[in-house]
Parts: sequence; C-alpha cells; structure tokens
Amino acid sequence: MGSGQFSFLFFLCFCQLSFSSSIPHLCRKDQSYALLEFKRTLIVDPSLVTSSSYSYTSSWNMSRDCCSWDGVVCNEMTGHVIELDLSCNSLVGKVDSNSSLFQLSHLQRLDLSSNNFSNSNISPEFGRFSSLTYLDLSDSYFSGQNPSEISHLSKLQSLYFSGEMLKFGPHDFEMLLQNLTQLRELHLTSINISSTIPLNFSSHLTTLRLGNTGLHGLIPESIFHLPNLETLVLQNNDQLSGYFPKTKWISSASLVELDLSGVNFSCNLPESIGYLTSLHSLSLKNCNLRGPIPESLSNLTHILDLDLSDNSLNGTIPSGMFSLPSLSRLVLSNNHLYGQFEDFNSNSVIWIDLSNNQLQGHLPKSIQNLVNLTGLVLSFNNFNGSVDVSFFADLKQLYYLDLSYNCISLTNENKHNVTLPGSLMSLRLAACEVKELEFLRSAKLLWHLDLSNNKIEGRIPDWAWSNWIISLKSLNISHNMLASVDSIPLQSANAIDLRSNFLQGSLPIPPISTRFFFISHNNLSGEIPSSICNLTSLVMLDLAGNNLKGAIPQCLSNISGLEVLDMHHNSLSGTLPTTFRIGSALKSFNFHGNKLEGKIPQSLINCKLLEVLDLGDNHLNDTFPVWLGTLPKLKVLSLRSNILHGPIRTLTTENMFPQLQILDLSSNAFTKNIPPGLFQHLKAMRTIHQMMNTPSDEGSRYYQDSIAVVSKGYEREIVRILFLYITIDLSNNKFEGHLPSIMGDLIALRVLNISHNGLEGHMPPSLGRLCSVESLDLSSNHLVGEIPAQFASLTSLEVLNLSYNHLEGCIPQGNQFHTFENNSYEGNDGLRGFPFTKGCGNDRVSGTNYAISGQLDDEESNSEFLRDFWKGALMGYGSGLCIGLSIIYFMISTGNLKWPARIIEELEHKIMMGRRKTQRKQRLFCISICFSSVFGLTL
Ligand SMILES: *[C@@H]1O[C@H](CO)[C@@H](O)[C@H](O)[C@H]1NC(C)=O
Ligand SMILES: *[C@@H]1O[C@H](CO)[C@@H](O)[C@H](O)[C@H]1NC(C)=O
Ligand SMILES: *[C@@H]1O[C@H](CO)[C@@H](O)[C@H](O)[C@H]1NC(C)=O
Ligand SMILES: *[C@@H]1O[C@H](CO)[C@@H](O)[C@H](O)[C@H]1NC(C)=O
Ligand SMILES: *[C@@H]1O[C@H](CO)[C@@H](O)[C@H](O)[C@H]1NC(C)=O
Ligand SMILES: *[C@@H]1O[C@H](CO)[C@@H](O)[C@H](O)[C@H]1NC(C)=O
Repeated sequence: MGSGQFSFLFFLCFCQLSFSSSIPHLCRKDQSYALLEFKRTLIVDPSLVTSSSYSYTSSWNMSRDCCSWDGVVCNEMTGHVIELDLSCNSLVGKVDSNSSLFQLSHLQRLDLSSNNFSNSNISPEFGRFSSLTYLDLSDSYFSGQNPSEISHLSKLQSLYFSGEMLKFGPHDFEMLLQNLTQLRELHLTSINISSTIPLNFSSHLTTLRLGNTGLHGLIPESIFHLPNLETLVLQNNDQLSGYFPKTKWISSASLVELDLSGVNFSCNLPESIGYLTSLHSLSLKNCNLRGPIPESLSNLTHILDLDLSDNSLNGTIPSGMFSLPSLSRLVLSNNHLYGQFEDFNSNSVIWIDLSNNQLQGHLPKSIQNLVNLTGLVLSFNNFNGSVDVSFFADLKQLYYLDLSYNCISLTNENKHNVTLPGSLMSLRLAACEVKELEFLRSAKLLWHLDLSNNKIEGRIPDWAWSNWIISLKSLNISHNMLASVDSIPLQSANAIDLRSNFLQGSLPIPPISTRFFFISHNNLSGEIPSSICNLTSLVMLDLAGNNLKGAIPQCLSNISGLEVLDMHHNSLSGTLPTTFRIGSALKSFNFHGNKLEGKIPQSLINCKLLEVLDLGDNHLNDTFPVWLGTLPKLKVLSLRSNILHGPIRTLTTENMFPQLQILDLSSNAFTKNIPPGLFQHLKAMRTIHQMMNTPSDEGSRYYQDSIAVVSKGYEREIVRILFLYITIDLSNNKFEGHLPSIMGDLIALRVLNISHNGLEGHMPPSLGRLCSVESLDLSSNHLVGEIPAQFASLTSLEVLNLSYNHLEGCIPQGNQFHTFENNSYEGNDGLRGFPFTKGCGNDRVSGTNYAISGQLDDEESNSEFLRDFWKGALMGYGSGLCIGLSIIYFMISTGNLKWPARIIEELEHKIMMGRRKTQRKQRLFCISICFSSVFGLTL
C-alpha cells in the first residue's frame, strides 16, 4: 500500500478448515498419544481465538479416531500421521527437542505457521522428518539459529520460515539450496541470512521469497533464467545489487510476481522487461533506476500492480501504460517523469500515485470513470487548470485524495449541491486555491486533512468541527487567512497545524490527545494558560511569532515527552521554567526575542538530548553558563543580546561542547580574555566533513514521525538537504587581550565575528588555516601589526572586515584579496596596498582606486545580507522546528558551497510550490527553506 495509506492492522488468518474424511480404526496408538501429548504442551490463547478461527486441537480426544481429528491426515494403509496442519490455531507454547511432535516421523506435510511458539529454537529434530515435503514454521515466533539439519530434508519441496529473531549460519543458505534438490517454494522472509546468493539453484524452483534477509552482493543472473520461476521477491535487501538480463529471460513465460524493491540496479530498465508477459505484479521501488520507462512495459497485459516509485526515471509515461487492461495499481511517485497524464482505457484502476514528478497539463477526464478508485495521489507535479469538486463526485470509493502543490485550483461551482465523496479519509489539498470549506460537508470520516497554503478566511464553520470531532487525527490549515479559532473541538487529534494565519484572541488549547501543536506566526495575545500543561502527550509545541504576554507556565517542564518547545518572538516575561528533570526529552528550546529575566535555568543540564538552545534577545542576567558544555548533543547555542557578563570560564573536561556548530554570544557584556580553552574541544568545528552532515538516524526518524502525521513528502525533501553553517559570533562584548591562535584549528568555521570588542595585539597567522571561512569580521578592536600574509590562503573568504583597528603594513595580495574594497580596511591608518592608493611596491593596481560605487553597494548589501541572514537563521532555527514553518529566505552565494545542482533544483521545485518563479541570478540562489526544521528536527 502506498505510504500515505492507512495501515489497518488486521489479523489476517486464512485458515482452511479441512475436515478429513473419517476412516474408522485407522489411527495408530503411538500416533494419537504423540498428538495428544503435543496438544498437552500447548495452550490455546483465548484472546486470539475469534469467531472465525478456532483451534483444531479442541477436537482432539480419544473418543474419535486420530486420523479424523481436525488438521490431521493419516496414511490410509499404515495409519501413520502424514500431514499436520495447525496453522493459525492460536497456539502458545514451546516446541523443544523432546516434544512428542518429533515422534510423528512419517510426516510429509507440517504446517505450524501463525501461532506463538514463544521464541522456541527450531530444533535439530526437525531434520529427522525425512519424508517431509512441506514445512511451514513462518510467523510463529521461532527464534535463534537455524539448525543445519534442515538441509537433511532432501525431499523438501516447500519451506517457509520467517521472523526477525531467526538467523542462518554462514553456509546454511548455500547448503540448503545445494542439498534440497527438490525445492520448489522457498520463503525465508525477514530472517537474517546475511550471505551472498549462491549460484546454484534447483531448477524446480517456482517461488523464491527472500525479502528483508540481509542478502548482499550481486544477484546471480541465473536466477532470472530459472525455467519454472513464478515468484521472485528479493525486496528490502539494500546491500544487494544486480543487473537485468538484456536478452529474453528464460523465466519470462512463467514469472507472475517480481519484487526487487530496494535492490540497487543503477541502470536503465531494459526493454527486455517486456518479455515477462505473465507478470501480475511488478515492484521495482527504490532500485536506483534511471532513464526512460521502456515502451515494452505496455506488453505486460496481465499486470495488476505496478510500482516503479523512488527511482530516477525520466521522460514521459509511455501511453501504452494507460491501456494496460487489468491495471489496478499504478505507482510512479518520486521520479523525474514529465509530460501528460493520459486517459485510462480500462476502468479497473483502484490506486494511482504519480506524486513528486514533473507531470503537467489538466487532469484527464477519464479519471471520473474509475469507479473503483480508492486513492489518487498527484501532489508535487505541474498539473494545472481548475478542477471542480464535481469532478470527484462519482468516485464513491475514494478515500485518499492528494492534489497538493500543483498549479491546480479547486473550484466549487455548484456550491451547495456537490461535495467531495463522503468516503474520503485522507484529503490533501495544499496550495490548491481553496477559499471555503463547503465542499467538505459530506466528508465525515476524515482522518487527515491538509488545507495548508490556501485562501481560507474567517473562521472554521461549526458544521466542519462537528464533522471532524470524532475521527480527525491531523489537521493542517496553516498558511491561510483564518481570523479566529476560539476552540479546537476534536476528540482524537494528534497533530494540529494553524501556523501563519491571522488568528487573534487568546491561545486556543487543543485536545489532550494532541502531540504536535503549531500555531506560530499569528496574532494571538494574552497569557499562555497553565492548562496547556494538561497536554501530557505533547511532543512539539510551537507558539512562536505571536504576541503572547505574561509568564511561561512553569509546569511546561513537566511534560515528559516534549521535544520541541518554541515560543520565540513573543512578549513573554518573568523567568524560564526551572524544573527540567533528568530524562527530559527536550531537543530544542527556543525563547529568542522575549522579555525574559533572571538566570539560565541550571536544570537544563538534565536535558541531555538538547540540540538547540536559543535564549537570544531577552533580558537574562547571568554569567557564562559553562555547564552547558557538558550537554553531549548541543549544536546551537545562542545567548546573544542579553545582559550576560563576566569572563568566559571553561571546563577542564575533555569534552566541552563536542557537537557545537553555532555559538552566538554577541551583544552581551562578557569581559576579560577570550580563553583558548573554549576552543580546545569543539570537535564539530574542527573537522570539515561534519559540515555537510546528513540527518542523524534518530533525528530523521524523529522528523519523519512528525511528518507522517502532519504532512508528507514536502518537508522530508528539505530535511535531506541538511547543511550546517558553522559559526562563532562573539561581537559586541568587552573582550580584551589577544586573539587566541588556537582558533585557527576551527577549520570548519564559516563565519567568525569578534568585532566591537577591545582585542589587542597581533592577528594570529594561524587564522590563515580557516579554509572554510566565508565571513571574517574583526573590526572595531585594537588590533595592531600587519595582516598576516597567511590570510591570502583564505580562499573561501567573501566578506572581510578589519576596519577600525590599528593595522599597518601591506595588505596581502592574491586570491580573494583583490575583491575586497576600502571598507574592509578603513579606519586603519597604516595599511597600504590594494585597494588603497598608498602603494606597496609591486601592487597590481597601485595608484588606482577601484572602488566603483556599484561594486561597493553590492558588497555592502552582501555583507549586510549575510548579517541579516544570520540574524534570521539564528532566530529561525528553532522557530517551530517543524514542518515548513517560518520559512525564511535564504540566499547563498555559490562561491564555495558545492551543492549538487540537482539538490538545488529539487529544493526549488519542492519549495516554490507551484509558482516556481525562481529567480536564479548568476551566483545567488534564492532558496526558501525551513531552516528551523533543518536545525531542530534533524541535527
Ligand atoms: C546433504 O545431503 C546429504 C544427503 O542427503 C547428507 O548426507 C548431508 O549430510 C547433507 N548435508 C547437510 C549439511 O545437511
Ligand atoms: C512488445 O510487443 C510488441 C508488439 O505487441 C512486440 O513487437 C515487441 O517485440 C514486444 N516487446 C517485448 C520486449 O516483448
Ligand atoms: C534522462 O536522464 C539522463 C541522465 O540520467 C539524461 O542523459 C537524459 O537525457 C534524460 N532523458 C530525458 C528524456 O530527459
Ligand atoms: C469495480 O469493483 C467491483 C467489485 O469489485 C467489480 O465488480 C467491478 O467490475 C469493478 N469495476 C470496474 C470498472 O473494474
Ligand atoms: C441543487 O440542484 C437542484 C437540482 O439539481 C437545483 O434545482 C438547485 O437549484 C440546486 N441548488 C443549488 C443551491 O445550487
Ligand atoms: C487542566 O488544568 C487545569 C489547571 O491547570 C485544571 O484545573 C484542570 O482540571 C485540567 N483539566 C483537565 C481536563 O485535566
């Protein structure tokens, strides 16, 4: 099922109730005793027995011939039990080596699947069933190592094992395939095989299901040429790679199901795929496929399910694919397909997912004829035109509809008569020009509703709330023009997103079940009621960018699962919560831009998971919180613009601020020397490769969890492109003394600002090692001496400000230095050389002032821009930490940022939401990015 579909948990048991014909007095005593003894060691779990399932063993008793017991089949001549089928019997217990089961030594078929054998090992005794042709132990909680004795079952034709607790020894798999020459069906799903695929296979094989088994290496091409193969499933083995046969596959005529999802092919899909004319199901999701979809796919006339999602396929969708007569599921999402979405010839389709491509044009009329359509997912394409609500009116089975982020405008011409189908459970219409909600009148089953980035005004009507009250789990009406939301009457809401509207009045409190609550960037006023602490399930709370006043409810620190607490840019006063407990889940804590007083709460030391701490722009009065240095994951620390004072103290510990990437202490009243010890550890700033971190596992999981409920796709893309600017800003303090030369070790630094302090002495030549630094500002200090010649090797440098010091001598030449103008140096009377007229001997341009005013402006705006950017970034990283919020515009001069063009294009594509008027001006990319998500959720 598509990722967006609901996953209902069904207890799927397809139990065949086979009643054997009873032949009197056939049963052998030893066999019936063995069966009864086996029954005695197991119990039937009543909680698993439903009206449609019951345990065969309940019919087992001595009053009937054992050959007539349910699930038992005997050899009519000898009376030996030859078949035992207890699948799906709700049995619980152990099957160990002395189980009487093993006395049934004539068994030919044994099916114990779908029970609970509570992590019994698979006993070596199974190897003694020498007549066994069929063995099914799947889904039964067997665990441990597979006994090599299984390879003794030389008559075995069908073998089913599954379960993550089971594993194979190094040669078991090879041995199995070598010895079991009669094997036809092999199902080893989700067990840990962890080997390569051997070259030799029984030519009888019809079914090979080896999904999620840790197989690695190359798929031997011989698999594709097994003459009788009907089912080949190797999905979810990401260490496996392969090549498709270029010629006709031997198995072409027989293959019915092919699932190679997740196997790395790194190639085009060959035309030869068209020979597999018997295929019913083809799944090549996430196979690293490139190039066009071969026309020959249209030859697969029996195909029901087709999934080519998550590849890099490009070109158009071959029109033949819209004529496949039996197609029921078409999934081509996350590719680079363009062109039109054509009319379907057959109406059998029930699921279409073409999201995240570059498809264009109007939605084809023929969609209206797909009467059995349950899901239509077209988000993130270039579809355009207006689509009236009536378009979907006849799709009575439709429960998932996603048209988000196209250029579609949803109209509702027949306002009160036509609505979307009442069957809808998930509806995503982000950026579809929606103006009112009337078309949702009949939708009373909705679980997920995304109406973000539309034009909805006023208030949400009462009838809508009453439609949603019971079932709605996630509601996103962010980026609209709502004027008020007095209350949020939902009973089972999980995620509520009302960001960026025009909401006034006091803060509405969502239902207790809420885990994600975003209402930032509105106009809410008044105090935060302490009843917000009743929301004990909260994971993320984002109230940033409002006008909330008064104290922060202290009880917020009691919400044990809270990971993101963001109230930046409000007017909160009083002190910060002080009672953070050990084990706190807090990852991001942002109160930037309020009126908070008092000290930085020491109990933050209990938040060992803290990654972002932004208390900038407040009235905090404290000394340097050196104890924060022990937080192992802290990446962003901003304390700028407070009344922090005194010297910077350091810890003697080995690991101070090991992960820190942004340190902003600017505009405070720190005094004394900048201690070298502060920079001694900062591991993250000392290694270049850390700069382009990919999301940490836990970070991305955390992120995706939240995405899954809020909105999908869009932000996940952004988050992939995690990049980290590494910066230190100590400007506007009262630091004195020398610049520590150890700062030259922070080679990953991109921005260093220590301007407006009282630094003295020479600039350390070691700063010439800051090979990544793009902006260096040491202006307005008392630095003396020459600019070290080593600075000429700062090849990434774009903004240099050394003005208003007492520097003298020659300005280094070469590399970047020919780009800096007067204002980089002004206020240093003793400097000579380019760009000054005072020459330095063999200057490139001695005597000429190159400071053309246009260039100056440019550079000024550039550095101003950088400053503003940082301001924005520093305020923004916590600003909601989620889900597309507080999108800040972000310009990167491409100079040394080596972003793959494709990533940039993707960003633009995803983020510009339909309009895509991207202005790509020479060296400046304009990218709007949810910086906050990048920081808060993935660091
Ligand atoms: C393979 O089969 C042969 C003959 O049935 C048997 O002797 C041998 O022990 C088996 N090997 C393994 C590893 O089971
Ligand atoms: C697909 O079918 C067309 C005609 O229907 C045939 O010419 C072509 O060879 C087939 N291609 C493959 C790869 O089977
Ligand atoms: C598809 O992508 C490849 C690069 O992977 C490119 O060479 C080719 O021109 C693209 N084809 C189309 C039709 O866009
Ligand atoms: C729709 O589904 C019904 C029930 O499964 C089936 O009988 C009918 O043929 C389907 N309609 C189409 C056009 O495939
Ligand atoms: C609803 O439809 C009926 C008949 O189709 C029509 O008479 C009526 O005017 C419509 N009402 C509105 C409000 O459009
Ligand atoms: C919510 O909190 C308030 C005060 O903080 C309390 O009086 C009230 O009983 C709580 N309500 C619920 C439903 O827990």
